[in-house]
Amino acid sequence: MAKSKSVYVCSECGAQTPQWLGKCPQCGKFGTLVEELAEAAPAAKKEPKRERSALSARPVPLNEVREEKFERVSSGIAELDNVLGGGIVPGSLVLIGGDPGIGKSTLLTEVSAHLSRTQKVLYVSAEESCSQVKMRCSRLKLDSSNLLLLNETCLEDIEEAIADEKFVVIDSIQAVYTSELSSAAGSVGQVRECAGKLQRIAKGRGITFFIVGHVTKEGALAGPKVLEHIMDTVLYFEGEREENFKILRAYKNRFGSVQEVGVFEMTGEGIYGVSDYSGIFLSETRGEAAGSCVTPSETGNRCMMVEIQTLMAKTAYGLPRRMPLGIEYNKLVLLIAVLEKRCGLPFFNQDVYLNAMGGIKLNEPAVDLAVCAALASGYKNAPIDKDTAVFGEVGLTGEVRGVTFAEKRVNECVKMGFKRVVFPAKNFKSVKKYEDKIQLVPVQFVNQMIKKLFPDERAQPQGGEQ
Ligand SMILES: Nc1ncnc2c1ncn2[C@@H]1O[C@H](COP(=O)(O)OP(=O)(O)O)[C@@H](O)[C@H]1O
Ligand SMILES: [Mg+2]
Repeated sequence: MAKSKSVYVCSECGAQTPQWLGKCPQCGKFGTLVEELAEAAPAAKKEPKRERSALSARPVPLNEVREEKFERVSSGIAELDNVLGGGIVPGSLVLIGGDPGIGKSTLLTEVSAHLSRTQKVLYVSAEESCSQVKMRCSRLKLDSSNLLLLNETCLEDIEEAIADEKFVVIDSIQAVYTSELSSAAGSVGQVRECAGKLQRIAKGRGITFFIVGHVTKEGALAGPKVLEHIMDTVLYFEGEREENFKILRAYKNRFGSVQEVGVFEMTGEGIYGVSDYSGIFLSETRGEAAGSCVTPSETGNRCMMVEIQTLMAKTAYGLPRRMPLGIEYNKLVLLIAVLEKRCGLPFFNQDVYLNAMGGIKLNEPAVDLAVCAALASGYKNAPIDKDTAVFGEVGLTGEVRGVTFAEKRVNECVKMGFKRVVFPAKNFKSVKKYEDKIQLVPVQFVNQMIKKLFPDERAQPQGGEQ
């Protein structure tokens, strides 16, 4: 019976086949066939029926629409509430993605235990046994006597098991399967179908779902993009597994801003929100060694001081290596080209390694100038003093372009006790008021920044030693 119910649909051209094929017979693409429920296919035939039922829906003037008021519930962790936009919205679907071992289960166990004190909470652990979850609860010293656990992977059984719980955790969506499809749990078709079913349950019965999703090697959520469309809120855990600090970022939020980030610290006793995040992305010995530079980076709605470290080593093989952690590869290559061409600092025989401290990811253009400063410092073998911060966007002509939130960035530098800040001249007006608190060094070109940071030209260039 299950056989006749599913059909394989090409995700590229939409062609259907009754069985799985490696190559789509219509468009010729490989590996694009995904199992789907056959009922979904003849949707076109059903359409007239749907139109008739839709007749009752009429346009309504906006001022007559009733505003939905939802009482947000606190998750018990202030940082998570912040990222969610002020707390959990009842009846919403929240997806938490992240690498294995980053702390998804830990975070959700803590939230479930907190909520179970006031309401019925079901924790569906499809990956771990109930005793493993219990062991975690004991390790985290959580009061979880009211928490209901279920070790089940079949979605239909899970649906049946949900009685009057209003908060359900599914850990994880890739381990759950629906018996209507014959493909293995975690396959694209299964993930899509299960997510759709969970959405119908959530909206129909007003249940809040927290769903754990794994990410692939490339960093995307394993499963189809449609998984993110179905969810109300999509959160990602970022950070290297070895690092203690993790950043929870909202990528999509129907009930709040996606500008918020939460900073968490992972310890043996659990995961804690870090409210005082200033300085956690700085090393203690900064300013002593060449090749590092601090920048005020705007991550989410917060400004954090982040140290960028670089290391240069003579190329052993023909082609120099570029290895950035925390910034994009292409950005590093581009900034090296700017330094070579516009500032005369040759890197062609240098392997360049770059690391943003604490495993943070710096995606904004405002970190460009600090990367250039760190590279120049490494090349000249001259440290930048520890009380100097740098920010600004760098153009291909070597000009320093203005950035957003300049005022906020300088304010953070002042707050963190920095004495000098190098920034785009374009932003001077907005930060002039900090003149008496911090030495302002506006620059127009990268060259100018290098001259200001390294006025002593006698400093031994590391790259010119050979
Ligand atoms: N017994 C333990 N003692 C200390 N730390 C642990 C223990 N078990 C797990 N951890 C830590 O908890 C982290 C998060 O685990 P978990 O929440 O299960 O991750 P995820 O669900 O994201 O895969 C792991 O990286 C590990 O370092
Ligand atoms: Mg887990």
